Amino acid sequence: MTSSAFSCLSKFNLNLLPFILIYFIKLGHGWLPNTSTKLINSANKLSSITFRGNTTSLDHFTVLYQDENSILLGGRNQIYNLSVFDFNERRDSTIFWPSSEAHSQLCNLKGKFEDDCQNYIRILFPTAPGKYLICGTNSYKPICRILQEKNGQIIIEKEMEGIGLCPYDPDHNSTSIYSNGHLFSATVADFSGTDPLIYREPLRTELSDLRQLNAPNFVSTLTYGDYIYFFFRETAVEYMNCGKVIYSRVARVCKHDKGGPHQSRDRWTTFLKARLNCSVPGDYPFYFDEIQSTTSVIEGNYGGNKNAKIIYSALTTPDNAIGGSAICIFDMEDVQSVFQGPFKHQDSINANWLPVPDNKVPSPRPGECVQDSRVLADKNVNFIKTHPMMEKAVPPLFGQPLLIRISLHYRFTAVTVDPQVRTVNDETYDVIYVGTDDGKILKVVNIPSSTGPPQAVVISENEIFSRKTPVKQLRIAPRYGRVIAVSKAEVKLVTINHCEHYSRCSDCLELRDPHCAWDSIKGTCVSVDTATSFRYLIQDIRNGSAVRCRIQPSDNTITTKEDNTIPIDKNSLDTDKDLIDPLLNLDTESTDCNEVDGEKVKGCASQSKLTLYTSEYLHIIVAVASLAGLFVGFLCGYLVSRRFHVHSQFPSPTFIEQHNHLDRLTVNQTSFLAPRTKTVNLDVLNVSTDSLPPKKDNLGSLKNLNITNEGTLQKIKKTYI
Ligand SMILES: *[C@@H]1O[C@H](CO)[C@@H](O)[C@H](O)[C@H]1NC(C)=O
Ligand SMILES: *[C@@H]1O[C@H](CO)[C@@H](O)[C@H](O)[C@H]1NC(C)=O
Ligand SMILES: *[C@@H]1O[C@H](CO)[C@@H](O)[C@H](O)[C@H]1NC(C)=O
Repeated sequence: MTSSAFSCLSKFNLNLLPFILIYFIKLGHGWLPNTSTKLINSANKLSSITFRGNTTSLDHFTVLYQDENSILLGGRNQIYNLSVFDFNERRDSTIFWPSSEAHSQLCNLKGKFEDDCQNYIRILFPTAPGKYLICGTNSYKPICRILQEKNGQIIIEKEMEGIGLCPYDPDHNSTSIYSNGHLFSATVADFSGTDPLIYREPLRTELSDLRQLNAPNFVSTLTYGDYIYFFFRETAVEYMNCGKVIYSRVARVCKHDKGGPHQSRDRWTTFLKARLNCSVPGDYPFYFDEIQSTTSVIEGNYGGNKNAKIIYSALTTPDNAIGGSAICIFDMEDVQSVFQGPFKHQDSINANWLPVPDNKVPSPRPGECVQDSRVLADKNVNFIKTHPMMEKAVPPLFGQPLLIRISLHYRFTAVTVDPQVRTVNDETYDVIYVGTDDGKILKVVNIPSSTGPPQAVVISENEIFSRKTPVKQLRIAPRYGRVIAVSKAEVKLVTINHCEHYSRCSDCLELRDPHCAWDSIKGTCVSVDTATSFRYLIQDIRNGSAVRCRIQPSDNTITTKEDNTIPIDKNSLDTDKDLIDPLLNLDTESTDCNEVDGEKVKGCASQSKLTLYTSEYLHIIVAVASLAGLFVGFLCGYLVSRRFHVHSQFPSPTFIEQHNHLDRLTVNQTSFLAPRTKTVNLDVLNVSTDSLPPKKDNLGSLKNLNITNEGTLQKIKKTYI
């Protein structure tokens, strides 16, 4: 069974490999020159304030709430209240909330560790002035409280069960939102984490219906119009080929859903979901299928629509593929129109999924908000139960990602946006911060184009945490460039604002950071939010050209005229790049940017970018090629060693060692094939590996390793099924 599974797996990967290579070579041409980074900052170059909370044990930090003064962090047995300006801890407003002795003993009895049997606070929403709803994991027995502020004191008004509202495990990827006087949550409702649900008392998604939710990781939720939207990734039921695939989804429910008639009175009558399509177009689109983070809805001028409402989202390739990450923009209009479109339908378990013809859709259209869903016909309620999936996928704005990164070192984990930052000449730009799983934050600016898709300029790449520490959440703090970065163990308030580092006008303008402008009176690069007047400030975000440095700033009318009369031709810039041999190592230091001639200035800007492009491009080609080589060698080695193992009773020690190693490396992939058990409980798996460390070099250890793994899986099955 495992060998057939493996052949399936290797076929799958081998088929994919040439595509991946072709894509990345194509990507190299099409995308990477645009996305080279201008600045790379190590941790000691950035000013930051660190908050560690409980220093003796892990807090599993999460941002619960933020307003203009404070940020509330959920931690281990407490809620911390910090100032958003300087991270000053307001100790007198800390809320302590440990589990009761009885609950933590019960948790221990159920086989959890000391660190699990704590109350990690995951939810806080103000429900009325001075009133808060809070929920915590409470030693694997979720619990909620309503707090009321009275005369500066906080009292507990009510305590209730939190099952279905709050996760059991502080690391579970859950999300929730408070809207219309109700808490809407997407989490799990059982100890082992096998009952995922979207819940608002008393309505929930169907229990163990894989068409509705299939081992989801919830990422975020937002309210928009009459609906609550949930973003998540999950195992795709509609994927009919070999192996398991994860897709990204957006699901929605009506805020006013009252449940169905009769026995479906505790079920949603409006739950629908659709795939998110973040891909590089082509004959075989290359997909970034695993959503990691989204921003909230922002309003601005995108693609000619003045009041477009969009979200930015970070998506990645699967863990076992070459690390690819993308930022895609989704327009809420597009999301809504997919939910207006055809439904997906599968006749029988092995049949293909097909669109439902319009005349087979009952009326009123299932999934829409209605006056009173309790009087809906059974036909309607049954239709939505069996057709929760939309046929079409939500396309990214402009049909392609805004930014792509291919890296062997990191993937994107979090995204946030400082929306619509106003420049001195009254344009607006979104500044996007992207967190990675190797502790970095990229600062990116979205530069719209009047003709085609927008361009992402990566202003800087900043080391925030150590290389092994993923950035879990990002929040914008007041003041330009201030960002709050959350990891499991610490939270940092960092200043990602590089204006001061530049002493030349051309450098300041070429950075293209909407936060920075050249002050022509003081002769310094300043952060725009510290300037008292825009009068003498110069910026050029659209073109990043130093031409404006030469214009006398005292005459404002001429400045604006010149703005329009010096269009930098993007195409000529691009062809310039193509003509230059990419292997030529251009010397950026000696370039003279002070030429008055427009052509020369353009050349200066493009040359300094070019060197970055070439080295990065080469790195990627070399890395991809060597990885491909490794991978093919790997598979051959594996197959040979496998055959050898089958035919020989007494394999030589070297073979065992190799095989053992491979087994450990492919553990992730083979667990594909047992999707249900994989999600059962990672903690339990960890327990077994902790107590039985794999003995690498011992003869026969291979067998032991397999038995331990299978044994554990069976044990888990027995325990939870
Ligand atoms: C956090 O601290 C600020 C300032 O002291 C206070 O105004 C606010 O009410 C506190 N928040 C909570 C939830 O206690
Ligand atoms: C939650 O998401 C993170 C980041 O994508 C992932 O590494 C982690 O395994 C997920 N947690 C669980 C319990 O699946
Ligand atoms: C995703 O978008 C690409 C191009 O933008 C398109 O070719 C592809 O068919 C789409 N995929 C799905 C599943 O809709």
